[in-house]
Amino acid sequence: MAKSKKEFSGKKDCGIVVSKDGPYLVSGGLPLVREIAVPDSEGHPVKWVKGKVFPAKGDYALCRCGQTEKKPFCDGTHTKIGFDGTETASRKEFLKQAEKISGSGLVLFDAPELCAGAGFCHSKEGDTWNLTKESDNFKSKKIAIQQACDCPAGRLVACEKKTGKPIEPDFKPGISITKWQGEKFPGPFWIKGGVPIESHDGKKYETRNRVTLCHCGKSRNKPFCDGSHM
Ligand code: FES
Repeated sequence: MAKSKKEFSGKKDCGIVVSKDGPYLVSGGLPLVREIAVPDSEGHPVKWVKGKVFPAKGDYALCRCGQTEKKPFCDGTHTKIGFDGTETASRKEFLKQAEKISGSGLVLFDAPELCAGAGFCHSKEGDTWNLTKESDNFKSKKIAIQQACDCPAGRLVACEKKTGKPIEPDFKPGISITKWQGEKFPGPFWIKGGVPIESHDGKKYETRNRVTLCHCGKSRNKPFCDGSHM
């Protein structure tokens, strides 16, 4: 896939503001790309593949109502349709929302309300919860870590049992427009690399390495994706 001649690497002062009943206001030159979830022969997503890279822009507005004609950018349709973008997500930190699953080699933190339905947590080798419980086995531990790190929403975070240290993919600040191979509709916006996200009321959500923001307007956990696009 050809890359844009000019790509931003993201500035330190980048961020996203969730506007009231309107788009995500992105600032700081965050790179924007498409990213496709590719399944194995049994239909389980197993890897992410980068697609189109959008030309670099300093600031831009991403559609949050799902009805724009200029996807992924806002074209003002939200005002015509009376979009209700009320933010209903918890403001609690991830670790205060998450359940804890312990194994001999790993601890898994899981906040189900953040699930975007990506499906990387299930594979023919097993699911992340059972693999964590079997994490005294090297292979199970490795697969559990990979599955947790592939979760775009950050619903799942694996930590080393001995140190308690979270194991996170190394992301630079950026936004991916997700899609599942073979699916007609796009998935959520995948926000990577610790981009600050601010509510329309000025309060900040916890800054995390990976979260997914609703793209279709239907989530019941706005601004985060809850898998309603599926
Ligand atoms: S948020 Fe503006 S068109 Fe969707």
